[in-house]
Amino acid sequence: MTIELAPLPLPTTTDPSKFGNFGREVKGINPGDCTPEQLEEIKQALYTHDALLFRNVSLTPEQQYALAKTFDPESENYSHGNNKTETQTKSILHPILRAIPRVPQVQLIGNGMVYNHEGIAEAKLNHPSHKTFHKTVVSPEDEANGVTRFYRWHMDAALYDLSPPRVTALYAIRVPQGPKQTCRYDDGSGDELSLPLGTTAFVSGQTMFHLLPSELKSVAVRAKVKYAPHPFVWMAPARAKSTGLGIESDGLEMPLNELPPWSEENVKIYPVLWKNPVTKALSFQVHPCGATELIISPLPTGAARENSIVSRWCAHHRLEGG
Ligand SMILES: [Fe+2]
Repeated sequence: MTIELAPLPLPTTTDPSKFGNFGREVKGINPGDCTPEQLEEIKQALYTHDALLFRNVSLTPEQQYALAKTFDPESENYSHGNNKTETQTKSILHPILRAIPRVPQVQLIGNGMVYNHEGIAEAKLNHPSHKTFHKTVVSPEDEANGVTRFYRWHMDAALYDLSPPRVTALYAIRVPQGPKQTCRYDDGSGDELSLPLGTTAFVSGQTMFHLLPSELKSVAVRAKVKYAPHPFVWMAPARAKSTGLGIESDGLEMPLNELPPWSEENVKIYPVLWKNPVTKALSFQVHPCGATELIISPLPTGAARENSIVSRWCAHHRLEGG
């Protein structure tokens, strides 16, 4: 190994025994300028540890694109399509992302005015906030004290027409300074996280799957999610739950006949679980805000049914089925 890996600090409320392999800092290497052997080591490390951090490195947009492309050499697109988020004005991604003109696979994200950046003469960037998407928001007093929420838990994927990327590369050019924020999970646990401004949080889909009781694991391995056509336009009028984990069932989603033109063949149905090609571990891979249907295959013939959550539900409701 020519690259050195160091564990990343976990939030204090985390149970470290559940995150032993999650996240590593990579030392002694510039990810924009490394040998094919080092790139292979980075690939193996990412599949093993899910998230990698490189500190104090300098990357051009071309180097950033080349690094991500290592994981999928045939891909030519940013995950939402090159230059597409600019043209879909009704999409909730429209105010958030700007393509770098000469490398449209790399997008600019941030907050405030930007001038003369990599061929972009001027851009007004808006960092997303729960206040523009959640059904309820934190009180003005709490907000003044730096309280916020997770905006929207997601995987980076268009979920319509284009397939999800294998990897996302975030490059911090200027990190916002200022007092830390307190991010509330707002899931009833009272848990919260102290964060710098503009933070992107990552979660282990593998841990998420392992935490499930066996009957829900049984459902997860048999389940697929059907996503809406143009899901980021479809979800725009709807309001999200306070956890950022899905939208409220208020019927506010854009009607299918009012969406931009779409076809059934481009609608995406993905398994709830993803199998890591290196570790063979199963991970959750769901974008709850774009989901329209959960499709659960029946248990295989002869499988034990007494622990099935579906059969318990059926028993409770005096129904037959599995
Ligand atoms: Fe993202």
